Formats: sequence, structure tokens, C-alpha cells
Amino acid sequence: MKILVTGGLGYIGSHVTTLLLNKGISVICLDNLENSSEVVLDGIKTITRRQPIFKNLDIRDKNLLRILFDEHIDIKGVIHFAAYKSVEESVRKPLQYYQNNVGGLLNLIEILTKEEIPLIFSSSCTVYGQSKKLPISESEPFQPPTSPYGFTKQVGEKIIEHSCTAYPNFSAILLRYFNPIGAHPTAKIGENPQGIPQNLVPFLTQTVIGKHPVLKIFGSDYNTPDGTCIRDYIHVMDLAQAHIDSLNFLISSKESIFETFNVGTGNGVSVLELIKTFEKVTGEKVPYEYCEARSGDTVSSFADVEKIEKKIGWKANYSLEEALKNAWEWEKNH
Ligand code: NAD
Ligand code: UFG
Repeated sequence: MKILVTGGLGYIGSHVTTLLLNKGISVICLDNLENSSEVVLDGIKTITRRQPIFKNLDIRDKNLLRILFDEHIDIKGVIHFAAYKSVEESVRKPLQYYQNNVGGLLNLIEILTKEEIPLIFSSSCTVYGQSKKLPISESEPFQPPTSPYGFTKQVGEKIIEHSCTAYPNFSAILLRYFNPIGAHPTAKIGENPQGIPQNLVPFLTQTVIGKHPVLKIFGSDYNTPDGTCIRDYIHVMDLAQAHIDSLNFLISSKESIFETFNVGTGNGVSVLELIKTFEKVTGEKVPYEYCEARSGDTVSSFADVEKIEKKIGWKANYSLEEALKNAWEWEKNH
């Protein structure tokens, strides 16, 4: 049995690949290296002492994708990470985001529905926008998207839902990630953003190592206990495990499945609390200053995680402290 991991050399895909290989599962890592590099394969090999089959392929190329499935008729499941993920870039380049995130998904799903191969899809809590209720449960309605990126996740979810309805033997799980952070505890793989990171934790670790003079906290007078935004930060290893548990659930089920799960810790943490926790666990000082709020930011977002725990028995195990320690070790190591 083989599992195809699209975007398998990216941040989350590489961590999932190590867990699959450690379980003795054969993995095909498909990646066009647009936001990753083959060096990630070395990290995966060092951690697991095994290697995935690597295919440098673009999911927008429908013919090559078809050939890949014809060559590997024993693919029993697909975990689909390959997509663009920058909110800010998506506003400047909406068409590229629709082509890759929606077009790429359509190419893939056409094959999966025909071959009846189950799918796990990387969605995001961005689909909820600023939810009226906290913690956010899976039944909360979508808010209007604040970026083309967010819209591609809403559309992607709908494409998969409609496909599950139309093709009764096709199964899928949508995983709505909250804020993935951290790195593999060995510090051999981690997040490697191109250019200046927009996300809090990579910007923070790069600031502490000296790549940026100061971390700007976007907004200080939000309606939260310390005035900074609240998020649900989930260790990438916990997130990776949620994919393994979802895959087991999909593959072992006798019936077709269509499920949506939040993947978070259930705990809301403010920007300031995160900075203070980083300082406590690493002993490093974070140079920071307050500045204007970032447009489009939601104030508070954290997950209701009851459904995933009840249905598939997954829950987060790593602490915020471990996630920040691992993020720092990775920053120093690469
Ligand atoms: P990433 O950019 O590190 O990984 C994506 C990988 O896909 C990269 O290696 C890239 O080279 C590859 N890729 C992109 N387009 C491709 C294409 N057309 N063909 C083949 N390969 C392609 O991103 P990530 O952080 O690992 O995120 C993975 C998925 O999770 C994405 O779909 C993203 O939208 C979603 N997600 C991420 C976050 C987050 O904060 N990291 C949060 C919510 C959802
Ligand atoms: N922040 C700062 N300074 C920075 C970067 C971020 O103060 O330099 C703040 C933001 O204002 C926000 C919090 O830190 O309050 C978290 O910001 P991130 O950019 O790390 O994360 P977001 O919640 O804004 O969005 C991220 C991804 C989205 C994804 C979402 C949910 O960028 O693509 O998580 O998974 F949809």
C-alpha cells in the first residue's frame, strides 16, 4: 500500500511523511519544489532511516498526474497539501491562487473520484473568519472570505463535499487547521518560509536570531485581556498525527465517509502570551514593539476540538512550550 502526499516536502507535508514512514507505510512525495527543496528529503531520511519515492511534479499538469496514478496502482490514500498559502500574496495574485489551489484540486479529485481513492484535504480555520461563537465548532457557518486564499479553502471544501455526494464510493476528510507552529523535535525538518515571513512564530524566531531588528505586534487595543489577538497554536507534530489518525479512520471504514474536523488545541493564546512563553522556555529576549493592527486579522480564534476527539480519538499532546522550543531549535539548526 502506498500513500500519496502532495506538497510532501513542504512544512506540514514533510512532518506527515516522517510519521507515515515511521509506521512502515510507503510514501510517494509529490512536490514541484516551488516552496520547498530536495534538501528536505535528507532530513526525512535522517529521522526515519527510510525514504519516500520523490516525484517532482506539478498538480496543475493533469496528464502527468494521471501517469503517476497509472504507474502506482497501489495508492490507497491521498493527503493533499500542495497549494499556495499566503493571504497577502493571494490578494496580489488571485488568479495564480485559483489556478493552483482550485485547479490543482480539480485535477486530483477527478482521478480520485474515478479510482475511489480517499482524500484528506488541508483546510484552514480561515474559513470561519471572525466566528460569532468561541470556541469554534465545525458547524459554525462560513463568514465571507477576507482573501482569495481563504476563498480557495471554502471552494475547495465545497468541491470535495459535492464530489462525495455525487460519487457515493468516494470518501474524504477535511481538516481545518488552526495555527500550526513548531518543528520536528530532532530539528532536522521544520518551517522554511521564502522571503520575509508573515506568520508570527517564524518572524519571531528570525528576529531573535538577528535577521530582523524587531517583532511588530499588530494591534494592542483589541477587545482581549491584554489587547493582542488570540489564536490556537498547534504543534506541527500533533497536526501531523491528526492526518495519520484520519487516514486510519478513512481506510478502515467499511462505509463511505465525508467528515470535517477542527485540528487545534482548544486553547486561546494571545500574541503577548506567546512572546512571554518563548522568552521563558528559551531564555532569549524578544525585541518587540506595538504597531498598527493588520487589516483582515480576526480578533480571537480557537477551536472546539470535541468532534475529532470523539470520532477518531485524536487530541493534541504537545504544549505551547514544546512547540516554541522546537521552533527555536529548528531556527538555530538550519
Ligand atoms: P508549504 O508551502 O510549506 O507546503 C506546500 C508544498 O506544496 C510546497 O512544498 C510546495 O512546493 C508544494 N506545491 C505548491 N503548489 C504545488 C503544485 N502545483 N504542484 C506540486 N507541488 C506544489 O505549506 P504548508 O504550510 O505545509 O501548508 C500545506 C497546506 O496546508 C496548504 O494547503 C495550506 O494552505 C494548508 N494550511 C497551512 C497552514 C499553515 O499555517 N501552514 C494553515 C492552514 C492550512
Ligand atoms: N502577528 C504579529 N506580528 C507578526 C505576525 C503576526 O503581531 O509579525 C500576529 C497577527 O496579527 C495575529 C497572530 O500574530 O494576531 C497570528 O498571526 P499569523 O499570521 O501567524 O496567523 P493568522 O492566524 O493570521 O493566519 C494563519 C495563516 C493563514 C491561516 C490561518 C489559520 O497565515 O493562512 O493561520 O490556519 F489560514
